Parts: sequence; structure tokens; C-alpha cells
Amino acid sequence: GSCCKIGPSILNADLSNLAAECQRLVDAGSDYMHLDVMDGHFVPNLTFGHPVVKCLRPKLPEVFFEMHMMVAAPERWIESMADAGADMYTFHYEATEDPVGCIRKIKEAGMKAGMGINPPTDVEVVLPYIDQLDCVLIMTVNPGFGGQKFIAECVPKIEFLRNKFRNLDIGVDGGVGPKTIQECADAGANLIVSGSALVGHENPQECIATMRAIVDS
Ligand code: DX5
Ligand code: ZN
Repeated sequence: GSCCKIGPSILNADLSNLAAECQRLVDAGSDYMHLDVMDGHFVPNLTFGHPVVKCLRPKLPEVFFEMHMMVAAPERWIESMADAGADMYTFHYEATEDPVGCIRKIKEAGMKAGMGINPPTDVEVVLPYIDQLDCVLIMTVNPGFGGQKFIAECVPKIEFLRNKFRNLDIGVDGGVGPKTIQECADAGANLIVSGSALVGHENPQECIATMRAIVDS
């Protein structure tokens, strides 16, 4: 198997056809779906919430849903997202006063727990929570919009975590595609989120194959 899993971010997809867009990306070889939730508070943009996830779940019964919660007070939506069929709940360190409580509630709701950190945030902040986390998501753009430029200065955070934790799932999100996946994988990321580069590609199957060939070589 491949060292990395690839999860499309469907922000830049045709959202009026969300289920079909996800299916298209799953058929192209995606390993999971990275679903970007924005609330207009934590980030200056809006997307969708648990009612949409609940409608999507029966259309894609087998697909792993990672919810990337770019929202203030992430504890608020844990139960609704679990009920909607989410598999992993990735909240932001910067968004909550109580990461420990947030992680505990996510686990109690039966989901995997992920913690995201924005580009200006030091990677060391995740260390007290590592034992309870299933995944750390390193942002390589400031969250809010798809199609932004990859911030390479964030890559050493991935390397720092991988050197300390051999088995931790480390995700990378923002500006990742065929041109930037190599440095992410070399640094030790194993969950690769790709939005505009993959979703906007005329042949997503070829794009995924290209990315896998790069990381597996
Ligand atoms: C950033 C989101 C993303 C993202 C990915 O706000 O969390 O998941 O935009 O899209 P690309 O790959 O286009 O940066
Ligand atoms: Zn995201």
C-alpha cells in the first residue's frame, strides 16, 4: 500500500452536486473525503454544516468523512456531526479554550479526534494533547478559502512531529497538489488534503495517480 492517504477538499467543487462530486473523486481513487466547515467567525467565509453532511452520508455509505471544523467554539457541533455520520472531527487549537474537553466529547460521540493548527501557531502547542489525538492537521494556508498558495515555511512542523511520533497521523492542508506533495510526504505527512489542484483537474484519476507515484518513489 501507499504511505499516504489522499483526501479531496471539495470547497472548489460544484456544491450543487455535492454527492456526485464526492463520488467522482472517490471513483478517481481518493481514500477519504475532507469536508470543510466554515462559520464566518473563525474564518471569513461560510460553507455548510451538519444538515448537509447528514444528507451526504447515505449517498456515500462507505466513505470516511473527516470534518475540518473551521469554526469558533467547536464543542458546539460535536454531537450533531456524529449524528450526521462524521468519522473524524478535526477542530482548531486556536478555536477553543478547552481542547481536552473537546477531544473527550469527540471520543464520547464515537468519532476520531483531530486537531488543526494555523500557519502562525507554534507546533509545540499540540504536544500536551498528542496522546489523546488521532491526527494533527498542519495548515499550509491560512484557512478560509481554497486555491491559496502553499506556505512552505509550515513544512518543518510536519517534520518536527514525525521525528517525535512515528505512528501519529499527520495531515497537511492548503495548496497541496502534484507540485507540493513531495515536500509534505518527505517531511512525514501521511494524510494529504488536496483541493483546487485535484478537484479542478480535468482528470482527477490521473492527478491522484501522479501524486501517489511521487510519494511512493
Ligand atoms: C482551507 C481549507 C482547505 C483548502 C484546500 O481553508 O481548509 O481544505 O482550501 O484547498 P486547496 O488545496 O485549494 O488549498
Ligand atoms: Zn480543510
